[in-house]
Amino acid sequence: MSAPFFLDGSPAAHDALRDAVAEVLAVLAATDERGPFPSAGPARLRESAAAIEPLPDDAEPLGEVLADVGRTVLAQGARVTDPWCAAHLHPPTLLTAAAAEVAIAATNQSMDSYDQAPMATYVEDRLVGRLAALIGLPAVASGVLTSGGTASNLLGLLLARDHAAGGANVNGLPAGAARWRILASAGAHVSIRQAAAVLGLGRDAVVAVGTDDDGRMDVAALDRTLAQLGQTGGVPIAVVGTAGTTDTGAVDPLTALADRAAACGAWFHVDAAVGSALVLSDRLRPLVAGLERADSITADLHKLWWQPIGASALLVRAAASLGSVREPADYLNRTEDDDVLNLVDRSLDTSRRFDALKILVSLRATGRRRLAGLVEHLVDLAAMAGEAVRRGPGLELVAPPQTVTVLFRCRPDGVDEALLDQLNVDVQRRLLASGRAVVGRTRHRGRVALKLTFTNPLTSHDDVAALLAAISAEASAAVGVAA
Ligand SMILES: Cc1ncc(COP(=O)(O)O)c(C=O)c1O
Repeated sequence: MSAPFFLDGSPAAHDALRDAVAEVLAVLAATDERGPFPSAGPARLRESAAAIEPLPDDAEPLGEVLADVGRTVLAQGARVTDPWCAAHLHPPTLLTAAAAEVAIAATNQSMDSYDQAPMATYVEDRLVGRLAALIGLPAVASGVLTSGGTASNLLGLLLARDHAAGGANVNGLPAGAARWRILASAGAHVSIRQAAAVLGLGRDAVVAVGTDDDGRMDVAALDRTLAQLGQTGGVPIAVVGTAGTTDTGAVDPLTALADRAAACGAWFHVDAAVGSALVLSDRLRPLVAGLERADSITADLHKLWWQPIGASALLVRAAASLGSVREPADYLNRTEDDDVLNLVDRSLDTSRRFDALKILVSLRATGRRRLAGLVEHLVDLAAMAGEAVRRGPGLELVAPPQTVTVLFRCRPDGVDEALLDQLNVDVQRRLLASGRAVVGRTRHRGRVALKLTFTNPLTSHDDVAALLAAISAEASAAVGVAA
């Protein structure tokens, strides 16, 4: 008989799991010495993936599988612990959270019902309650974990829709729903428009409110939009604030937005996928003042809380608002079992991972103070990078850093304005293709911009200075090639 396949409580099964984990860790160690990105290029990666047989008829020894996977897969990954892997909100993970993933997978609690996840159910409930309290929501607040910010925003806006018309969850959209509008800044994440589409409102139900020069929602523009809607029969059902936009890291003036939402009876959702972590720090918490006024909040734990993907929370000001999600099933969240909590009642998922475990383990093993220090370091790093860009020759700061993002352009002397967009595209592509650096590329007010996003607490000021120097050098080289 070969090694056990499942954890059956026997010492042999635990030994087998330990050996398998040790083999995985050995491959991780063997592939950890690499740059931030593979230089192989997409065609070679596709070819090498095509050569893999994921489902052989007969078993292959785990050691051989892992050796092959190490070489062909893990060694060809983006390396999020590299300080020059700085494009996205895609952080390294706390070791304690990564280790706890083994327990999540091996015990496989499913968060839909109490009878599949008895203690896990109450642990997740406790965790979301603690996060809500940290943000300053009232005692009746609640929440649920989701797979990511996109899913949390969808759930938040679903609650907004059901708030606008009680019964929309059962009867569908009322006749007047074509006039419903969701007001979000022009810098809001694309998942807000996606959510509007999924909810049957249509993407264009999202009205993009103008931003100030720093990328924050312009309150005067919001007032004008509301007045215009009033004149044209539009109904604002939700105001969406963003605490930490994806491209500029801007935090909308949340208190003013909360006031406007309250005045027109709209739901106030805050996408704090990024900014939720600021409440860990007494120093940074004022940056998200007003967050505690939200009806619902997206808080991504797989961003600045350093959790493995997926880990996000949708927090709500009043637990009762989640009621519109509940759909009783005879086999699962039975109406007669009202003495237990079934988290499927709060969720758009049925089967769902016990991600609360890795979060709980790693937050306890790290502590709020240390987490706060890491967030502060990254915000300071972004400020320092912004200053370096401002001073640096051949670089132009596009928006002042407010959280952990720096948006800028390469602008070497003597390059025609019309060529600058292409130059910046080339710089980002060349750094990526060579595997030397993963730098973000986006558009700001229609123009190509580069972006550094600091989520890696291991990144130092010297790393940032060296990366900016490499970007400038690449721009000079690109100009040389073009000339
Ligand atoms: C502000 C904001 N909201 C939502 C999201 C979506 O989060 P996720 O990728 O976890 O779905 C992102 C992603 O970067 C984001 O920046």
